[in-house]
Amino acid sequence: MLITTAIDYTNGAPHIGHAYEKVLADVLARYQRLCGHECYFLTGVDQHGQKVQQTAEKEGIHPATFAKKKTRLFLNLWKKLGVDYDGWAETTDDRHKACVQRILSDLKDKGELYKKGYQGHYSVRQEQFLTDRDRDESGNFGPEWGEVVEIEEENWYFRLSAHSAWLKDFITQQEDSVIPSFRRNELLGALERSGDQDLCISRPKERLRWGIEIPFDTGFVTYVWFDALINYASFAGYLAADSAGLPDFGKLWPADGSPTPLHIIGKDILVPAHGIYWLCMLHAMGFPDSQMPRLLVHGWWNIKGEKMSKSLGNVVDPDQLADRFGVDAVRYYLVRDIVTGRDSDFDPERLVMLYNQELANELGNLCNRALNMTARFCYGICRTSHEATSAELALRESLESSTAAYRSAMDAWDTAAALKAINAHVTHCNAYTEQNKPWELAKDEAKKADLERVLAHLVESLAHLTVLLSPILPEPATRLAHQLRREDLLQLKLGELYWGLIGDGHETGKPKPVFPKIVIEEEA
Ligand code: ME8
Ligand code: MG
Repeated sequence: MLITTAIDYTNGAPHIGHAYEKVLADVLARYQRLCGHECYFLTGVDQHGQKVQQTAEKEGIHPATFAKKKTRLFLNLWKKLGVDYDGWAETTDDRHKACVQRILSDLKDKGELYKKGYQGHYSVRQEQFLTDRDRDESGNFGPEWGEVVEIEEENWYFRLSAHSAWLKDFITQQEDSVIPSFRRNELLGALERSGDQDLCISRPKERLRWGIEIPFDTGFVTYVWFDALINYASFAGYLAADSAGLPDFGKLWPADGSPTPLHIIGKDILVPAHGIYWLCMLHAMGFPDSQMPRLLVHGWWNIKGEKMSKSLGNVVDPDQLADRFGVDAVRYYLVRDIVTGRDSDFDPERLVMLYNQELANELGNLCNRALNMTARFCYGICRTSHEATSAELALRESLESSTAAYRSAMDAWDTAAALKAINAHVTHCNAYTEQNKPWELAKDEAKKADLERVLAHLVESLAHLTVLLSPILPEPATRLAHQLRREDLLQLKLGELYWGLIGDGHETGKPKPVFPKIVIEEEA
């Protein structure tokens, strides 16, 4: 399966919203592999467009130099956060440019593109055409637009309107075209309201130089969205030569009814970019319904109920956050404290609280106790042949139902629910430990069998939890597998988990805190 994210604008630095989307995609891609499915994870950066040209001009450097510089910030951050993508999309890549130009030429040959003049009001300061919606109550264009002139400009248009009836039918019939379903309804609502407008896909070079040249009309460059959306196909190998070093498109973008690409995007770019433009572009390019991608639409991280923005000065830098609290805490928080599809409030105090409570205290405690007591009381040896009592049967049942809940949550892209399912079993194990008090059992030689039985059940649980946790926290899972002396656990697929992973006589390793507690120094 192909999993993609939006490609991030390189006109600024990465923020917590960018980090969330990439970590979410990384977790879901790792989960697909854990299920035994092949998965190709594509992400990257959006380097063209007006904003990049403008910011570069302000800094007095070439837009290419500027975009490269910003791109490095994203690359470094993904490395730091363990975002392990298979393909990297940069829209200035020659292979992408060639693909965009081929698509443009093909669409023109098919009669999907036409050139026409457009007369309208244009804001020189904002470098954009204005519509009546931009007028204030008295019908004028306000001072924020600066000088407004009437200009006539020729441009290339894509016959979007020719595909709107198809799109309505497709979205109506295809239940998983947009996930979650309330976002699909949002798109259907937008389609009801939208007029039959075509899409302007070029910009004259006098206005914008930083883009992909229109191959059949060299005075123009391609509109940035038309260029950017094509990344999903170009970097999946669409129309590419074998020698291009790109994946096999037929494999990544199947036509045989197996899962189509999953585009993970934020709610702001569903309408019109992905939900309308991209699906209609694919339809015009000749993609059948069975090859249409699915859109997984996530919500936004806000700050104290407000939108994150440069002007409010409340933008959270994920790089600093990782330095301060550690990568594991950041990854955990980002997929734990938000329901996929909904918005959430970013709160560093909750980040610390959830990490300390659920990982350092609950899971960390379970790891430490299980491995420590096995080492101290049993020379590190697990004895698994003792007959289970009702307490152990209940523990096994807890693991079974947690695993099932984890799977169905992850299958529904709901990472928060999946983590709650894992944590439910951790809580069960800790209560079981408290009830059975292995440290007491160890004092009485006659209770040796009870002691071994209890510890074996904790170690076995830990082995399962290590595997379940691995898509979300790959590094801690590796450390845990190492301490269990079972690195091979991380090669297992979900379907291969069964009670009895830890065999009789297995020797576990030395425990070392996997989730050290975050201590916040009181500010003086
Ligand atoms: O839109 N919380 O780029 P972008 C969660 N280049 N997600 C957020 C967010 C927040 N506060 N703010 C932004 C673009 N995002 C285009 C995409 S795709 C062919 C081109 C998400 O850098 C946003 O919804 O503005 C989008 O999915 C991604 O970050 C990149 O946003
Ligand atoms: Mg944006």
